[in-house]
Amino acid sequence: MKKIILTGDRPTGKLHIGHYLGSLENRAKLQDEYDQYIIIADVQALTDNFDNPEKVRKNVLEVTMDNLACGIDPDKSTIFIQSMIPEIAELTIFYSNLVTVARLERNPTVKTEISQKKELFGVEGDSLTYGFLGYPVSQTADITAFNADIVPVGEDQLPMIEQAKEIVRKFNSLYGDVITEPKAMIGNVARVKGLDGNNKMGKSLGNAIYLSDNEQTITLKVMSAITDETKIKKYDKANPDKCMVGYYHDIFSEKDKEKVFLECRQGLRGCVDCKKQLASNITKTLAPIREKRKYYEERPELVEQILKEGIKKARKKARQTMKKVKKAMKINYFKNN
Ligand code: TRP
Ligand code: SF4
Repeated sequence: MKKIILTGDRPTGKLHIGHYLGSLENRAKLQDEYDQYIIIADVQALTDNFDNPEKVRKNVLEVTMDNLACGIDPDKSTIFIQSMIPEIAELTIFYSNLVTVARLERNPTVKTEISQKKELFGVEGDSLTYGFLGYPVSQTADITAFNADIVPVGEDQLPMIEQAKEIVRKFNSLYGDVITEPKAMIGNVARVKGLDGNNKMGKSLGNAIYLSDNEQTITLKVMSAITDETKIKKYDKANPDKCMVGYYHDIFSEKDKEKVFLECRQGLRGCVDCKKQLASNITKTLAPIREKRKYYEERPELVEQILKEGIKKARKKARQTMKKVKKAMKINYFKNN
């Protein structure tokens, strides 16, 4: 029996190269060896976008296409929409008894997200909702409804897996050994910085290169990247470690990077040419993804079909888990339910 993976994204925007390097590239590789479930987490997206359902709805399709474009094969991976699996919501309610409010408030991922929101939008502490605070509980249900063994995530999601483990242990110790305890798996580049040098490339930060960006857009964005500020004239010496262009060359320019770094240090290359070369390398890397995405963009009915089939498969699996959960919790009142 293949081990089960569960992974996914909130549909709050198109996915970018940070998502690709941090997880999507890995997903395409993992689908042969594992039974992989990919969740389009619309319910989770609504926890902090409840006032913008249009945005979430639109991005369900975008994120599905991003996954398919990165090589997710619907015959190998099961891709589905969270809200279409009511068993996840049911399981969330049962789990919510097994975690304290204090523990949720200490969750580092939740804490960081709350402080980011304060910074970005000036959100007051007392506007924190029950739903948002509880999203780690719901995420535990996402994972365990499918009995997942492994969750490939970015570094920032590690506390989430830790929290999930705690809830699972509590469940199993109270009701019997029913739920599989998940393990985290970190991608090769756990986090990719933004074009502006921000530690995180983010949809809301406006510093991302999207998988759907064309050459022109990529070039424009790379031109705006932060470079070594001490370099003023074309042939000044500079330090590529202090430059976002250098940072991305390291990731995208396997063949040229040694030369790029050396020429930068020796004052033998101008930043404009250096950026053009980077834009071209990123464009080349993303070309097969962009083409595949275009194929699906032109066939929305195919994307819909893939989702419908994924939902059917995912539901079947989640129903099996809920049957066991209800039995363990002694709330299976009648035969055959
Ligand atoms: N929290 C993830 C994100 O930030 C999305 C997600 C929802 C997820 N449920 C999950 C990831 C379960 C891994 C496992 O986008
Ligand atoms: Fe950055 Fe390239 Fe300019 Fe060096 S030459 S500072 S790596 S853009």
